[in-house]
Amino acid sequence: MTDQITLRRPDDWHVHLRDGAMLQAVAGYTARQFARAIVMPNLTPPITTAEAANAYRARILAALPAGAGFEPLMTLYLTDDADADAVEAGYQAGAWIAAKLYPARATTNSHFGVTDILKVARVLERMAKIGMPLLIHGEVTDPEIDIFDREAVFIETVLIPLRARLPNLKIVFEHVTTAEAVAYVSEAAPGIGATITPHHLVINRNALFAGGLRPHAYCLPVAKRERHRQALRRAATGGSDRFFLGTDTAPHPVAAKEADCGCAGIFCAPAALEVYAGVFDELGALDRLEAFASLNGPRFYGLPVNEATVTLVREATPVEALAAAELGGVRPFLGGETLAWRFVG
Ligand code: NCD
Ligand code: ZN
Repeated sequence: MTDQITLRRPDDWHVHLRDGAMLQAVAGYTARQFARAIVMPNLTPPITTAEAANAYRARILAALPAGAGFEPLMTLYLTDDADADAVEAGYQAGAWIAAKLYPARATTNSHFGVTDILKVARVLERMAKIGMPLLIHGEVTDPEIDIFDREAVFIETVLIPLRARLPNLKIVFEHVTTAEAVAYVSEAAPGIGATITPHHLVINRNALFAGGLRPHAYCLPVAKRERHRQALRRAATGGSDRFFLGTDTAPHPVAAKEADCGCAGIFCAPAALEVYAGVFDELGALDRLEAFASLNGPRFYGLPVNEATVTLVREATPVEALAAAELGGVRPFLGGETLAWRFVG
């Protein structure tokens, strides 16, 4: 039995680092385990200009513990009125490396999002031309569509037509949650990748209702049936280089989660790598963790892999029950539980 693994330092290809006091409280968790992270732009207001992206990057760097050696990779929040020249200028100047597409009203802070993908057609054409990736929250927002079907319907009604129009556009299908998404990404023409979160590998939709309503298991896209979780576990551990690590860590204060209308988002940063390692271990695939966590993402984005390494050991490890007490508390994913792997550093 393998009791210790060492891999190239991983990157997190999807994080919500927030701003202000929450940024101060959470940045260190991501920086502890990951060398780089794709930082989501869904602040209020969202990051829609190069100036805002540069200022946000500076605030992130200032929030990091001394000597963290962590590089935030910034993203642009696409809106209906995004301008192709400005998107390209920000990309060429290094203000962002990708743009995030939130269908309007799909999730937290997405009310500024894109109302119809045709409205950003020119921007997407330009992105395809210059090789700038589009990161997609892949859910339709039509309230008539069952929430558990919104990802699968998005593939048919938005993603497939989009890729037919712009086959050269590099796309990351973020935080996939369904067997349909896994099948699509696995079989589609090249140029598409997908991130998979730790929590979608561990919980299915029963976790939302285990003994009562469980707001801390609620995120978007919402966890699906067990057969979908199984498909995600096969995808992450199966050796395809189209799937890579993206935690979608999305902290909200306890009071915002445990509310009449609780926020979507799971704060998985405190033990993200330990959870992934546990899943790969359970499936006898620890030898594939490095590709998923540290190689496939850089290859997709055209970035160098990290030279430093990290080590995990098989050792019972408690997850802290509550983080950021000064903000009224943020509940980590699996907080208070014990994991089989420990991140050594
Ligand atoms: C994210 C958030 O809170 O910003 N929430 C979530 O459930 N994942 C937004 C998002 O990525 O959908
Ligand atoms: Zn997200």
